Amino acid sequence: MKRFEQKVAIVTGGGGGIGSAIARRLADEGALVVVSDMKEAAAIEVAEGIEASGGSAVALAADISNKDACFALVQKAFSERKRIDILVNNAGINRRGDLLSLSDDDWHTSFAVNLDSMFHLCRAVLPYMIDGGSGAIVNTASQWGLHPAPNHIAYNTTKAAVAAFTQNLARDYAPQKIRINAVCPGEIHTPMLEAGVKRSGRTIADLDRLVPFGRIGKPEEVAALVAFLASDEATFMCGSLVEITGAQAVA
Ligand SMILES: NC(=O)c1ccc[n+]([C@@H]2O[C@H](COP(=O)([O-])OP(=O)(O)OC[C@H]3O[C@@H](n4cnc5c(N)ncnc54)[C@H](O)[C@@H]3O)[C@@H](O)[C@H]2O)c1
Repeated sequence: MKRFEQKVAIVTGGGGGIGSAIARRLADEGALVVVSDMKEAAAIEVAEGIEASGGSAVALAADISNKDACFALVQKAFSERKRIDILVNNAGINRRGDLLSLSDDDWHTSFAVNLDSMFHLCRAVLPYMIDGGSGAIVNTASQWGLHPAPNHIAYNTTKAAVAAFTQNLARDYAPQKIRINAVCPGEIHTPMLEAGVKRSGRTIADLDRLVPFGRIGKPEEVAALVAFLASDEATFMCGSLVEITGAQAVA
């Protein structure tokens, strides 16, 4: 028996580096995965890849910084099999800057994408999970939300808020057997990380040297953790913030 047979999972940012790995992992283990991304072509490519390798997936384009789009996404996902078992709030953006250099727009957009989306998507999905008697939500925070890296005040603050949001939600909905946890990745090799590396003038090899494990992480390694937290193997995990960093301490 695969861990997610008969289950329906929504993965936001499913067209991106970590999100596509999560979508593939959940589908490999039997879930019907709703691959959602604002980049429709990327979501379709991931969903088609899953179907081609024998899994089940549908692509749904949504800009999750928009409240109505969040509710519409959840309703469409529910209409597939009249259930939603797993929500992975993975989509995120990383706008660089300290307090004085960051634009107002970057501050507000960071909150809209990284935090408000979770507020809306969780409000949309929780009634279905409560009716179904169980559910698992995995939010993507960041190591930087717990230990801030310099010059990323908007990103770090939104990710700290994701951690607090996760713990609050877990306290409130544990009695209904909805498990809400967050992953806090360190440096993971994705398009977001490559863009940051390019901006800073560093190389991947430079980042590898910052990690005591000797290298940065792979999206599949985060996907394995997310799958564990979403699965019935993690039945007593609720309100946890799980770091996955290769023992890196932010300098
Ligand atoms: N890569 C890292 O080192 C790292 C470390 C810690 C946390 N994270 C977090 O992991 C998550 C995934 O990041 P990634 O590295 O895979 O980045 P990525 O850029 O490869 O993927 C992010 C995806 O989110 C989508 N997205 C962005 N804004 C959206 C919106 N408004 N609506 C819908 N989709 C939207 C993008 O289109 C993209 O496909 C993010 O929350 C990020 O903050 C990444």
